[in-house]
Amino acid sequence: MADNETLNPISIGLDDGYAFTKIALPDGRLIAIPSWARIGRSNITWLNASAPRVFEYETDDTRFAVGEVDGEPTHFDGYPFSGLNRAIVQHALHEAGLAGQSVHAVSGLPVSSYYLEDGAQRLELIERKRASLKQTVQPSDGRLPAAIAFHEVIPEALAAWYDHVICEANGGVQLEAERLGAPVAVIDIGGRTTDFVVVAGEAVRHDSSGSLRCGLLDLKRQVAAAIRARFDLEELSEQATEEAVRTGVVRLFGKSHDVADQVRAARRELVERLHAETERQLGRGAELERILFVGGGALALADDIQDWFSNQAIAPHPAFANARGMLKYLRYVCQEPA
Ligand SMILES: Nc1ncnc2c1ncn2[C@@H]1O[C@H](COP(=O)(O)OP(=O)(O)OP(=O)(O)O)[C@@H](O)[C@H]1O
Ligand SMILES: [Mg+2]
Repeated sequence: MADNETLNPISIGLDDGYAFTKIALPDGRLIAIPSWARIGRSNITWLNASAPRVFEYETDDTRFAVGEVDGEPTHFDGYPFSGLNRAIVQHALHEAGLAGQSVHAVSGLPVSSYYLEDGAQRLELIERKRASLKQTVQPSDGRLPAAIAFHEVIPEALAAWYDHVICEANGGVQLEAERLGAPVAVIDIGGRTTDFVVVAGEAVRHDSSGSLRCGLLDLKRQVAAAIRARFDLEELSEQATEEAVRTGVVRLFGKSHDVADQVRAARRELVERLHAETERQLGRGAELERILFVGGGALALADDIQDWFSNQAIAPHPAFANARGMLKYLRYVCQEPA
């Protein structure tokens, strides 16, 4: 049985975003880990060695620590092709229980990294991403690596459209015929990018599609800067920033401080930018059948975006819409090797 398992590749949807790496598995499980890692050893000795929370991986002769580390920021342009990305993805595969497995994966690139403005595919960039994740990544502690044997790349927000139109029910699959032809916009509010894609008549409308380099990581960065300025700090950890954004409170010098005003101001600024760009791309969306919000940002900003369009909806478990769509694309649309 174990041998058989290693021989049969597992298909996954792999949405390796700048903020979270999300995996959709054929058995319906959805897994997310923060895209946090840094180059080098973790320099942490766990007193309780049975529950380490930092894991080390090696790829291309470089060692990376993934997990609860104060990470290198992932928000640089080369991230989708980097060793940092490969190490984080390998860790996510382990969290999904895929150690020692052969994996077939579909992942994504932001719409504007995938297409030129005239709609031509950016083949060199797509191939770089495809090749990068097929490189070997070795866990440093003797665990078996998961190996990506087959890898395709599709535009991120388009993945959510596949999720919207391909319906798996009662053990079968069907295309939602009335959804397939209808003009739909997908707005994917992510960590570093907000992706827009309009699909009508089963074709991408490039004049209303693209990416805005703006997302929830900008909000975090701004909140961290405001807290550092207010308390005269040189550093603020990812964890403390995350908590401040989530709860409006930060723990410093052994006390809790209310930073809700700083969070509100950063949030308002982000929402205004997103709203302006959304109107620029889609107008009032009068001829769109549906405007579908996806991405973790659709949850984080749910209150602020709720009345942008009368014909809008938030996808179910929106942070996983791309990963689910990538898995559906792999299983039902692309030519996966047998
Ligand atoms: N369940 C949740 N509830 C509230 N907020 C969430 C949730 N999940 C994610 N978020 C927020 O949404 C943000 C974006 O998450 P998402 O996973 O869509 O980003 P990403 O795909 O990694 O980024 P990008 O698409 O730019 O590469 C996160 O930074 C987080 O702040
Ligand atoms: Mg994303």
